[in-house]
Amino acid sequence: MKPLCLTTALPFTECPPGSEPEVAGLEMRVLRNVKQGDPWPVDDAGRVTAAFCTHPPPNLAAFKNLRWLQIESAGFSHLFPFRLAEKNIIVTNARGIFDCPIAEWNIAMMINLARDLRTLIRHQDAHVWQRSAQFTGEVRGKTAGIWGYGGIGRETARLAKALGMRVHVLSRSGVKSRAGSTCIAGTGDPDGSLPDRYFTQGEKVEFLSGLDFLVLALPLTKATDGLIGEAELRSLPKGAFVLNPARGPLIQEQALLTTLSDGHLGGAALDTHYAYPLPAEHPLWDFSHVILTPHISGTTFSPRFSAGLLDIFRQNALRFIAGEPLLNLIPPADLE
Ligand SMILES: NC(=O)c1ccc[n+]([C@@H]2O[C@H](COP(=O)([O-])OP(=O)(O)OC[C@H]3O[C@@H](n4cnc5c(N)ncnc54)[C@H](OP(=O)(O)O)[C@@H]3O)[C@@H](O)[C@H]2O)c1
Repeated sequence: MKPLCLTTALPFTECPPGSEPEVAGLEMRVLRNVKQGDPWPVDDAGRVTAAFCTHPPPNLAAFKNLRWLQIESAGFSHLFPFRLAEKNIIVTNARGIFDCPIAEWNIAMMINLARDLRTLIRHQDAHVWQRSAQFTGEVRGKTAGIWGYGGIGRETARLAKALGMRVHVLSRSGVKSRAGSTCIAGTGDPDGSLPDRYFTQGEKVEFLSGLDFLVLALPLTKATDGLIGEAELRSLPKGAFVLNPARGPLIQEQALLTTLSDGHLGGAALDTHYAYPLPAEHPLWDFSHVILTPHISGTTFSPRFSAGLLDIFRQNALRFIAGEPLLNLIPPADLE
């Protein structure tokens, strides 16, 4: 009998019943019309060894033989309450498929902020002809600092280098060649050769003080929650821009508001937030030098997303059945 995998994941739920993709070696059971927070049916609970979803169910404990959870996202902070590492459940994520869309968002935001495109569009809406120098900023020759050098960071580095930018990197374990993670051929920086300069965690002030743009490309974990406070933001040169497509709480909210209000930061582009949806009365909406996007930088609604996700899942299913190491493993310590 094949191992049973329950799924609420998009590549399966978007297909009409009976036409879901086959996955070699696994019996897939698609849970349709199950919303986030609903318990999963427990028929055959003892046979379930794998699950593919974004949000595990509240009755996860009923699936005592669950050994592998594949999630549809790259971020995994929503898994912390499930204490999966303690339960010896291996967790793999979908990193890799977000690299290109988010790197493109990063580049779009850097150019938009540098040229103050927001003000140009407001002028267009108001039929104002204004040729001020603030609209002529270039990114060529500027320094982008990428904090966290995984898939998104590496593809951002590749595009930034193509635009003539300098790339500085701060990461946890150095800039090594990338193995064990999904990467689209021809993208990123697989051997870690692109950065002009690499900084260790202990060199964060030196790293920050040389940047025109700070780009966050690291996960939200216990170690990174609130990692960037007022001291870190003030270590950036006056007028620097901050981009956060990673997770809102990496930056302390009040520190961001203070350094935007007093003009220390030149502006920010934020795709990830402190509340979902961001309340209409939140002060971030009103800064003229802030671009807010509603967590869309990863373009999860494109057809390429679903195909990429299915590919990761199929590769991992083969490895799971063969007892081989899985791709995109989340270090158990990061799940605590
Ligand atoms: N907005 C969206 O729609 C969206 C979509 C996808 C991802 N994201 C966010 O972006 C994050 C990065 O995604 P990714 O695909 O690039 O992940 P990734 O490939 O796993 O890369 C993460 C990088 O962060 C580094 N890191 C982890 N903890 C760190 C720490 N404490 N200090 C410094 N660096 C640290 C890792 O270092 P090691 O090499 O040492 O592990 C790794 O280089 C995700 O975790 C997620 O939160 C957002």
